[in-house]
Amino acid sequence: MVLFGSSLFLIYALPRDGPGSGAELSWPRKVLAWSASVVLAASVVGLLVHTSILAGSIREGMTASSLSAVMTTMSMGPSTLIRAGAAALTLAALALRVSRATWWLCASLGAVICASFAWMGHGAATEGAPGLLHLTADILHTLAAGAWIGALVAFFLLLRPRAKSVTLDSVLHRALHGFAGVGTGLVAVIVATGLANSWFLVGPTRISGLWTTPYGQLLSLKLVLFVSMLALAAANRFHLTPALGAAVDGGEASGQALDALRRSLAIETAVSFLVLGLVAWFGTLAPVSAG
Ligand code: HEM
Repeated sequence: MVLFGSSLFLIYALPRDGPGSGAELSWPRKVLAWSASVVLAASVVGLLVHTSILAGSIREGMTASSLSAVMTTMSMGPSTLIRAGAAALTLAALALRVSRATWWLCASLGAVICASFAWMGHGAATEGAPGLLHLTADILHTLAAGAWIGALVAFFLLLRPRAKSVTLDSVLHRALHGFAGVGTGLVAVIVATGLANSWFLVGPTRISGLWTTPYGQLLSLKLVLFVSMLALAAANRFHLTPALGAAVDGGEASGQALDALRRSLAIETAVSFLVLGLVAWFGTLAPVSAG
Protein backbone atom coordinates (compact mmCIF):
# COMPACT_ATOMS: atom_id res chain seq x y z
CA MET A 1 0.00 0.00 0.00
CA VAL A 2 2.80 2.43 0.86
CA LEU A 3 4.79 1.46 -2.25
CA PHE A 4 1.76 2.07 -4.51
CA GLY A 5 0.14 5.00 -2.73
CA SER A 6 3.23 7.01 -1.80
CA SER A 7 4.79 6.79 -5.29
CA LEU A 8 1.46 7.85 -6.80
CA PHE A 9 1.40 10.77 -4.33
CA LEU A 10 4.85 11.92 -5.51
CA ILE A 11 3.36 12.21 -9.03
CA TYR A 12 0.01 14.00 -8.41
CA ALA A 13 0.60 15.94 -5.16
CA LEU A 14 4.18 17.29 -5.27
CA PRO A 15 6.01 19.64 -7.70
CA ARG A 16 7.57 17.97 -10.77
CA ASP A 17 11.04 19.24 -9.76
CA GLY A 18 12.75 21.75 -7.44
CA PRO A 19 12.14 22.24 -3.66
CA GLY A 20 9.55 19.80 -2.32
CA SER A 21 9.67 17.50 -5.37
CA GLY A 22 10.14 13.74 -4.90
CA ALA A 23 13.70 13.84 -6.25
CA GLU A 24 14.69 16.64 -3.82
CA LEU A 25 13.15 15.12 -0.67
CA SER A 26 15.26 12.71 1.43
CA TRP A 27 12.62 10.07 2.24
CA PRO A 28 10.93 8.86 -1.02
CA ARG A 29 13.66 6.58 -2.31
CA LYS A 30 14.35 5.07 1.14
CA VAL A 31 10.68 4.53 2.00
CA LEU A 32 9.84 2.96 -1.38
CA ALA A 33 12.95 0.73 -1.23
CA TRP A 34 12.06 -0.39 2.29
CA SER A 35 8.47 -1.11 1.22
CA ALA A 36 9.60 -3.14 -1.79
CA SER A 37 12.12 -5.06 0.35
CA VAL A 38 9.45 -5.95 2.91
CA VAL A 39 7.04 -7.05 0.15
CA LEU A 40 9.75 -9.23 -1.43
CA ALA A 41 10.80 -10.87 1.86
CA ALA A 42 7.24 -11.28 3.17
CA SER A 43 6.05 -12.80 -0.12
CA VAL A 44 8.78 -15.46 -0.12
CA VAL A 45 8.42 -16.24 3.60
CA GLY A 46 4.62 -16.20 3.30
CA LEU A 47 4.69 -18.69 0.43
CA LEU A 48 7.02 -21.05 2.36
CA VAL A 49 4.88 -20.81 5.50
CA HIS A 50 1.64 -21.42 3.56
CA THR A 51 3.18 -24.38 1.67
CA SER A 52 4.53 -25.87 4.93
CA ILE A 53 1.10 -25.57 6.56
CA LEU A 54 -0.51 -27.31 3.57
CA ALA A 55 2.25 -29.96 3.38
CA GLY A 56 2.02 -30.65 7.10
CA SER A 57 5.67 -29.82 7.98
CA ILE A 58 8.40 -27.30 7.17
CA ARG A 59 10.61 -30.12 5.79
CA GLU A 60 7.81 -31.27 3.43
CA GLY A 61 6.89 -27.68 2.63
CA MET A 62 10.38 -26.89 1.35
CA THR A 63 10.38 -29.72 -1.17
CA ALA A 64 10.22 -28.90 -4.89
CA SER A 65 7.12 -31.10 -5.29
CA SER A 66 5.18 -29.22 -2.60
CA LEU A 67 6.21 -25.81 -3.93
CA SER A 68 5.42 -26.73 -7.53
CA ALA A 69 2.08 -28.17 -6.41
CA VAL A 70 1.22 -24.79 -4.83
CA MET A 71 2.54 -22.97 -7.88
CA THR A 72 0.47 -25.01 -10.36
CA THR A 73 -2.75 -25.79 -8.45
CA MET A 74 -3.43 -22.71 -6.28
CA SER A 75 -3.94 -19.04 -7.30
CA MET A 76 -1.86 -18.05 -4.27
CA GLY A 77 1.31 -19.46 -5.91
CA PRO A 78 1.47 -17.37 -9.13
CA SER A 79 0.03 -14.35 -7.26
CA THR A 80 2.94 -14.49 -4.79
CA LEU A 81 5.48 -15.00 -7.56
CA ILE A 82 4.16 -11.95 -9.45
CA ARG A 83 4.27 -9.89 -6.24
CA ALA A 84 7.86 -10.92 -5.45
CA GLY A 85 8.90 -10.24 -9.05
CA ALA A 86 7.31 -6.78 -9.08
CA ALA A 87 8.99 -5.93 -5.75
CA ALA A 88 12.39 -7.05 -7.10
CA LEU A 89 11.90 -4.92 -10.25
CA THR A 90 11.02 -1.94 -8.03
CA LEU A 91 14.24 -2.36 -6.06
CA ALA A 92 16.21 -2.51 -9.32
CA ALA A 93 14.53 0.70 -10.56
CA LEU A 94 15.26 2.50 -7.27
CA ALA A 95 18.93 1.44 -7.49
CA LEU A 96 19.27 3.57 -10.63
CA ARG A 97 19.12 7.43 -10.79
CA VAL A 98 15.62 8.42 -9.65
CA SER A 99 13.41 10.70 -11.70
CA ARG A 100 9.71 11.27 -12.23
CA ALA A 101 9.71 8.14 -14.48
CA THR A 102 10.87 6.13 -11.45
CA TRP A 103 7.78 7.17 -9.48
CA TRP A 104 5.56 6.11 -12.40
CA LEU A 105 7.32 2.73 -12.54
CA CYS A 106 7.05 2.27 -8.74
CA ALA A 107 3.35 3.21 -8.82
CA SER A 108 2.66 0.76 -11.69
CA LEU A 109 4.55 -2.10 -10.03
CA GLY A 110 2.91 -1.16 -6.71
CA ALA A 111 -0.50 -1.45 -8.39
CA VAL A 112 0.38 -4.96 -9.62
CA ILE A 113 1.46 -5.89 -6.07
CA CYS A 114 -1.76 -4.52 -4.49
CA ALA A 115 -3.96 -6.22 -7.11
CA SER A 116 -2.19 -9.56 -6.59
CA PHE A 117 -3.64 -9.82 -3.07
CA ALA A 118 -7.09 -10.46 -4.55
CA TRP A 119 -5.91 -13.99 -5.43
CA MET A 120 -4.72 -14.60 -1.86
CA GLY A 121 -8.06 -14.39 -0.07
CA HIS A 122 -11.80 -14.36 -0.69
CA GLY A 123 -11.52 -11.91 -3.59
CA ALA A 124 -11.07 -14.75 -6.12
CA ALA A 125 -13.37 -17.24 -4.39
CA THR A 126 -16.65 -16.45 -6.18
CA GLU A 127 -17.44 -18.66 -9.17
CA GLY A 128 -18.77 -17.68 -12.61
CA ALA A 129 -19.67 -14.22 -13.94
CA PRO A 130 -20.35 -12.75 -10.47
CA GLY A 131 -16.81 -13.87 -9.68
CA LEU A 132 -15.41 -11.37 -12.17
CA LEU A 133 -17.41 -8.57 -10.53
CA HIS A 134 -16.19 -9.61 -7.06
CA LEU A 135 -12.57 -9.84 -8.23
CA THR A 136 -12.72 -6.43 -9.96
CA ALA A 137 -14.34 -4.82 -6.91
CA ASP A 138 -11.72 -6.34 -4.61
CA ILE A 139 -8.82 -5.13 -6.77
CA LEU A 140 -10.28 -1.59 -7.03
CA HIS A 141 -10.91 -1.66 -3.26
CA THR A 142 -7.29 -2.52 -2.50
CA LEU A 143 -5.96 0.09 -4.97
CA ALA A 144 -8.16 2.88 -3.55
CA ALA A 145 -7.18 1.87 0.01
CA GLY A 146 -3.52 1.87 -1.09
CA ALA A 147 -3.77 5.33 -2.63
CA TRP A 148 -5.28 6.67 0.61
CA ILE A 149 -2.85 4.97 3.00
CA GLY A 150 0.17 5.79 0.80
CA ALA A 151 -0.86 9.47 0.81
CA LEU A 152 -1.24 9.42 4.62
CA VAL A 153 2.29 8.04 5.03
CA ALA A 154 3.65 10.68 2.60
CA PHE A 155 1.90 13.50 4.48
CA PHE A 156 3.21 12.08 7.77
CA LEU A 157 6.77 12.15 6.38
CA LEU A 158 6.32 15.65 4.89
CA LEU A 159 5.20 16.83 8.34
CA ARG A 160 8.24 15.50 10.18
CA PRO A 161 9.85 18.29 12.26
CA ARG A 162 12.27 20.28 10.05
CA ALA A 163 13.87 23.70 9.79
CA LYS A 164 11.37 26.52 9.05
CA SER A 165 10.80 26.74 5.27
CA VAL A 166 8.05 28.89 3.75
CA THR A 167 8.58 27.07 0.43
CA LEU A 168 8.03 23.62 1.96
CA ASP A 169 5.09 24.96 4.01
CA SER A 170 3.37 26.12 0.81
CA VAL A 171 4.25 22.87 -1.02
CA LEU A 172 2.66 20.98 1.90
CA HIS A 173 -0.40 23.26 1.96
CA ARG A 174 -0.90 22.85 -1.82
CA ALA A 175 -0.59 19.05 -1.46
CA LEU A 176 -3.10 18.95 1.41
CA HIS A 177 -5.51 21.27 -0.42
CA GLY A 178 -5.12 19.25 -3.65
CA PHE A 179 -5.72 15.97 -1.82
CA ALA A 180 -9.22 17.06 -0.75
CA GLY A 181 -10.69 16.15 -4.14
CA VAL A 182 -8.58 13.00 -4.57
CA GLY A 183 -9.53 11.87 -1.06
CA THR A 184 -13.25 12.23 -1.70
CA GLY A 185 -12.93 10.14 -4.87
CA LEU A 186 -10.96 7.44 -3.04
CA VAL A 187 -13.52 7.22 -0.23
CA ALA A 188 -16.33 6.88 -2.79
CA VAL A 189 -14.50 3.99 -4.53
CA ILE A 190 -13.66 2.33 -1.19
CA VAL A 191 -17.29 2.46 0.00
CA ALA A 192 -18.75 1.28 -3.33
CA THR A 193 -16.29 -1.62 -3.69
CA GLY A 194 -16.49 -2.41 0.04
CA LEU A 195 -20.27 -2.79 -0.33
CA ALA A 196 -19.71 -5.01 -3.38
CA ASN A 197 -17.27 -7.16 -1.37
CA SER A 198 -19.83 -7.27 1.46
CA TRP A 199 -22.56 -8.37 -0.96
CA PHE A 200 -20.51 -11.48 -1.82
CA LEU A 201 -18.98 -12.16 1.61
CA VAL A 202 -21.86 -11.18 3.93
CA GLY A 203 -24.93 -11.11 1.69
CA PRO A 204 -28.16 -9.07 1.84
CA THR A 205 -30.01 -11.80 3.83
CA ARG A 206 -27.30 -12.31 6.49
CA ILE A 207 -26.78 -8.79 7.87
CA SER A 208 -27.08 -10.17 11.42
CA GLY A 209 -23.84 -12.01 10.69
CA LEU A 210 -22.12 -8.64 11.11
CA TRP A 211 -22.52 -9.01 14.90
CA THR A 212 -23.09 -12.76 15.36
CA THR A 213 -19.99 -14.15 13.55
CA PRO A 214 -16.23 -13.59 14.15
CA TYR A 215 -15.78 -12.47 10.52
CA GLY A 216 -18.74 -10.06 10.79
CA GLN A 217 -17.62 -8.63 14.13
CA LEU A 218 -14.13 -7.87 12.77
CA LEU A 219 -15.62 -6.32 9.60
CA SER A 220 -17.91 -4.19 11.79
CA LEU A 221 -14.92 -3.06 13.88
CA LYS A 222 -13.19 -2.17 10.61
CA LEU A 223 -16.15 -0.01 9.61
CA VAL A 224 -16.01 1.80 12.98
CA LEU A 225 -12.31 2.56 12.40
CA PHE A 226 -13.12 3.65 8.83
CA VAL A 227 -15.68 6.16 10.14
CA SER A 228 -13.12 7.52 12.61
CA MET A 229 -10.65 7.98 9.73
CA LEU A 230 -13.34 9.90 7.83
CA ALA A 231 -13.84 12.19 10.85
CA LEU A 232 -10.10 12.89 11.08
CA ALA A 233 -9.91 13.49 7.32
CA ALA A 234 -12.80 15.98 7.55
CA ALA A 235 -11.06 17.84 10.40
CA ASN A 236 -7.86 18.02 8.32
CA ARG A 237 -9.74 19.28 5.29
CA PHE A 238 -12.08 21.84 6.84
CA HIS A 239 -10.05 23.09 9.84
CA LEU A 240 -6.37 22.15 9.98
CA THR A 241 -5.45 22.65 6.31
CA PRO A 242 -7.16 26.09 6.06
CA ALA A 243 -5.35 27.05 9.32
CA LEU A 244 -2.01 26.17 7.71
CA GLY A 245 -3.06 28.07 4.57
CA ALA A 246 -3.84 31.17 6.61
CA ALA A 247 -0.44 30.96 8.33
CA VAL A 248 1.40 30.52 5.02
CA ASP A 249 -0.52 33.28 3.19
CA GLY A 250 -0.26 35.63 6.22
CA GLY A 251 3.47 34.97 6.57
CA GLU A 252 2.74 34.02 10.19
CA ALA A 253 4.46 31.23 12.19
CA SER A 254 3.08 27.93 10.94
CA GLY A 255 4.43 25.87 13.86
CA GLN A 256 1.06 25.48 15.63
CA ALA A 257 -0.80 24.57 12.43
CA LEU A 258 1.90 22.06 11.49
CA ASP A 259 1.83 20.48 14.99
CA ALA A 260 -1.96 20.03 14.83
CA LEU A 261 -1.75 18.47 11.34
CA ARG A 262 1.14 16.25 12.42
CA ARG A 263 -0.87 14.87 15.36
CA SER A 264 -4.03 14.32 13.32
CA LEU A 265 -2.25 12.61 10.41
CA ALA A 266 -0.23 10.41 12.78
CA ILE A 267 -3.48 9.15 14.36
CA GLU A 268 -5.22 8.68 10.98
CA THR A 269 -2.21 6.73 9.63
CA ALA A 270 -2.04 4.54 12.76
CA VAL A 271 -5.79 3.78 12.48
CA SER A 272 -5.37 2.87 8.80
CA PHE A 273 -2.68 0.31 9.75
CA LEU A 274 -5.12 -1.13 12.33
CA VAL A 275 -7.68 -1.48 9.50
CA LEU A 276 -5.11 -3.47 7.48
CA GLY A 277 -4.41 -5.65 10.52
CA LEU A 278 -8.15 -6.42 10.80
CA VAL A 279 -8.35 -7.20 7.08
CA ALA A 280 -5.35 -9.56 7.36
CA TRP A 281 -7.17 -11.31 10.24
CA PHE A 282 -10.75 -11.61 8.93
CA GLY A 283 -9.43 -12.38 5.45
CA THR A 284 -8.39 -15.77 6.88
CA LEU A 285 -11.78 -16.49 8.51
CA ALA A 286 -14.86 -18.05 6.93
CA PRO A 287 -17.00 -15.19 5.58
CA VAL A 288 -20.61 -14.73 6.79
CA SER A 289 -21.91 -15.90 3.39
CA ALA A 290 -20.20 -19.28 3.89
CA GLY A 291 -22.21 -19.90 7.08
C1 HEM B 1 -9.95 2.82 5.36
C2 HEM B 1 -10.80 2.18 4.65
C3 HEM B 1 -10.57 0.77 4.15
C4 HEM B 1 -9.40 0.12 3.90
C5 HEM B 1 -7.98 0.62 4.10
C6 HEM B 1 -9.74 -1.20 3.40
C7 HEM B 1 -8.81 -2.15 3.02
C8 HEM B 1 -9.13 -3.41 2.59
C9 HEM B 1 -8.18 -4.39 2.11
C10 HEM B 1 -6.69 -4.17 1.96
C11 HEM B 1 -8.86 -5.53 1.82
C12 HEM B 1 -8.27 -6.87 1.37
C13 HEM B 1 -8.45 -7.13 -0.05
C14 HEM B 1 -7.89 -8.54 -0.34
O1 HEM B 1 -6.91 -8.95 0.23
O2 HEM B 1 -8.41 -9.20 -1.23
C15 HEM B 1 -10.24 -5.26 2.13
C16 HEM B 1 -11.21 -6.19 1.99
C17 HEM B 1 -12.51 -5.93 2.28
N1 HEM B 1 -13.08 -4.71 2.63
FE1 HEM B 1 -12.11 -3.01 2.98
N2 HEM B 1 -11.11 -1.32 3.37
C18 HEM B 1 -11.66 -0.14 3.81
C19 HEM B 1 -12.97 0.19 3.92
C20 HEM B 1 -13.98 -0.72 3.72
C21 HEM B 1 -15.39 -0.39 3.80
C22 HEM B 1 -15.94 1.02 4.06
C23 HEM B 1 -16.08 -1.56 3.59
C24 HEM B 1 -17.58 -1.82 3.57
C25 HEM B 1 -18.46 -0.93 3.13
C26 HEM B 1 -15.08 -2.62 3.38
C27 HEM B 1 -15.37 -3.95 3.16
C28 HEM B 1 -14.43 -4.91 2.84
C29 HEM B 1 -14.73 -6.33 2.61
C30 HEM B 1 -16.10 -7.00 2.74
C31 HEM B 1 -13.53 -6.96 2.26
C32 HEM B 1 -13.30 -8.45 1.88
C33 HEM B 1 -12.54 -9.12 2.94
C34 HEM B 1 -12.24 -10.55 2.56
O3 HEM B 1 -11.54 -10.80 1.57
O4 HEM B 1 -12.71 -11.41 3.27
N3 HEM B 1 -13.83 -2.08 3.45
N4 HEM B 1 -10.38 -3.98 2.59
